Amino acid sequence: MTTALSILIIGGGQMGSAIALGFIRSSAKISITIVEPDLDRRIEITDTGIIAVKETPNPITSEVIILATPPHIFPLLSELHPQLQHFTGVIVSVMAGVSLSELTTRLNRTQVFRSIPNLACSINQGTTLSIPGPQVTRKNEDLINRIFSTLGTSIFVTEEHLLDSATALVGGGPAYISYFTAALIEYAKIAGFDNASATSMVIQILRGTSALLEAGPDTPMRLCERVMTPGGTTQKAINHFNHMQIKTSIVDGLNQSFLHSVELGRRSWR
Ligand SMILES: NC(=O)c1ccc[n+]([C@@H]2O[C@H](COP(=O)([O-])OP(=O)(O)OC[C@H]3O[C@@H](n4cnc5c(N)ncnc54)[C@H](OP(=O)(O)O)[C@@H]3O)[C@@H](O)[C@H]2O)c1
Repeated sequence: MTTALSILIIGGGQMGSAIALGFIRSSAKISITIVEPDLDRRIEITDTGIIAVKETPNPITSEVIILATPPHIFPLLSELHPQLQHFTGVIVSVMAGVSLSELTTRLNRTQVFRSIPNLACSINQGTTLSIPGPQVTRKNEDLINRIFSTLGTSIFVTEEHLLDSATALVGGGPAYISYFTAALIEYAKIAGFDNASATSMVIQILRGTSALLEAGPDTPMRLCERVMTPGGTTQKAINHFNHMQIKTSIVDGLNQSFLHSVELGRRSWR
């Protein structure tokens, strides 16, 4: 980003703070203010060098607002932050399940985006999927793409159901990988490694495996097969996973997450 841009983030929880941290760690010229009602959270945010305020500024002078409150707050947002009514810039919602049509209708704005980032945005290794509102200008689409590119990979889609899938996959992704990581660490500790050794070994395995997959040409299952010497030790574990239908369970779990995103969209304001 060549010229300075001002972004206001409403909601300084896990996601709002991760986005803000990614911005300040990037080389982009972006100034950030977070609106966060909780005093302790504001102190934590301020300690990271980011401005955190209790009330939304009046008037809002930022060019972009990112809405990172829980989805159930959305119906009350205009009431809680009446300054939004006079805001003429770009609004990006990262709230799970809140649809584009609800965003444009309730906020009475056309320059609106629905996006799903993940927590890796805080270290500029995030993935963000976005869909622009139907009347968004090309200039604003480029702007939001550039903003999320500073946080990692930015992908635009044209079908909104993919945002619900991305909520399950991209938003939740770090949780699933961490869940699997926790199981590997638990095994290492049961086997007798201390916590620090177990954690550093497992993280290096994750790093090495993602680097191998990125380098190619193996697909994940091909890499899995290459590790499994026929009749060998790894095959014992994978056979057990297959017997327990772990892969099917993971796909089913993500589908449950997708369905909940769709349901949230139907439920939260009716
Ligand atoms: N966590 C993720 O990895 C992730 C990924 C993708 C998308 N999202 C989406 O990001 C949004 C935030 O999720 P989160 O995990 O960051 O939740 P969170 O940690 O609970 O953060 C939400 C923050 O918003 C604050 N808040 C509540 N009402 C507010 C208001 N009226 N004005 C300003 N701030 C307000 C909350 O303060 P109080 O605690 O005082 O209520 C809290 O600090 C959700 O809509 C979620 O769907 C999250």
